[in-house]
Amino acid sequence: MKILVATEKPFAKKATDEMRNIAQSAGVELVLLEKYTDVNDFYRAVETVDGLIVRSDKVTKEVVAHAKNLKIVVRAGAGFDNLDLAACTERKIVCMNTPGQNSNAVAELAIGMMIFMARNTFAGGTGSELKGKTLGIHAYGNVGRLVGLLGKAFGMNVIAFDPFVKRENVEKDGVGYVETIEDLYKKANYISLHIPANDKTKKSINYALLSLMPQGAFLINTARKEVVNEEDLVKLMAEREDFKYATDIAPENLAELKEKFGNRVFATPKKMGAETSEANINAGLAAIRQAIGFLKDGIDKFRVN
Ligand SMILES: NC(=O)c1ccc[n+]([C@@H]2O[C@H](COP(=O)([O-])OP(=O)(O)OC[C@H]3O[C@@H](n4cnc5c(N)ncnc54)[C@H](O)[C@@H]3O)[C@@H](O)[C@H]2O)c1
Repeated sequence: MKILVATEKPFAKKATDEMRNIAQSAGVELVLLEKYTDVNDFYRAVETVDGLIVRSDKVTKEVVAHAKNLKIVVRAGAGFDNLDLAACTERKIVCMNTPGQNSNAVAELAIGMMIFMARNTFAGGTGSELKGKTLGIHAYGNVGRLVGLLGKAFGMNVIAFDPFVKRENVEKDGVGYVETIEDLYKKANYISLHIPANDKTKKSINYALLSLMPQGAFLINTARKEVVNEEDLVKLMAEREDFKYATDIAPENLAELKEKFGNRVFATPKKMGAETSEANINAGLAAIRQAIGFLKDGIDKFRVN
């Protein structure tokens, strides 16, 4: 039995070493394809394997077509918009993510970006403090909840909008439950985005919503660049000199945003949210355990298709 770990952006070595140990003890061969630059290498490597573990690597229908023995794909991470679920489902290949394993890393980055923007990207000048400001959490899942708890530790008034989470589960954390998305944007000085990217959410953070935010607004995006309507953002930031945007992973129009708005925009040069050794290890080990659990015992917890 073979599992391929295909990572353009590899896991930390400590994580792959430990993943190999787990595979060996289960009698499974672990094949590593790291830092590949040619997708044909991925096609070749996936041909004979039973399981596949990826990070942000795209599992397209072409990958699926080359994978003759594939039974399970695990996305080591939370979002699974890089997997072609329809193509996998058609071939009866099970897809999973590893929810919660990198949430703390992402939450700390979100708070870090809030402070960085509040302090004028550490470039000098008088900034502002998080304390006493209202933080709106847009989607109260694993990451959103942790950002909320950290925000509270900074003395922020934290409110959240998530139609799929019960009011009592938000309120028991001492976080205000907001019933409408408009209310969240109207009340929050900071909005931290934690929605998944899907057909409903892509480009949903638009002019109408963002213009509801009070003066001195910060939008922090550690979710996905696709959820923000980038043209609307340009329009809004041109009208609102007070508005700042920080995002984990560059928007398509970063050059335009930087040229027009300078330090009011910040984008990490590469996706940084889950880039801690702790998150690498947590997500990598969860992924190999889940892949083996499925191949050997049919356990399909965290299945997403
Ligand atoms: N920057 C990074 O490296 C990084 C790392 C991990 C996750 N992420 C992104 O962050 C997102 C959140 O991660 P998570 O671990 O908290 O996921 P999660 O699945 O735990 O939480 C997602 C939450 O979104 C809510 N939701 C779904 N659709 C919604 C909608 N239309 N409106 C409001 N709420 C909605 C769900 O109810 C859920 O509570 C992921 O989908 C992923 O895209 C980015």
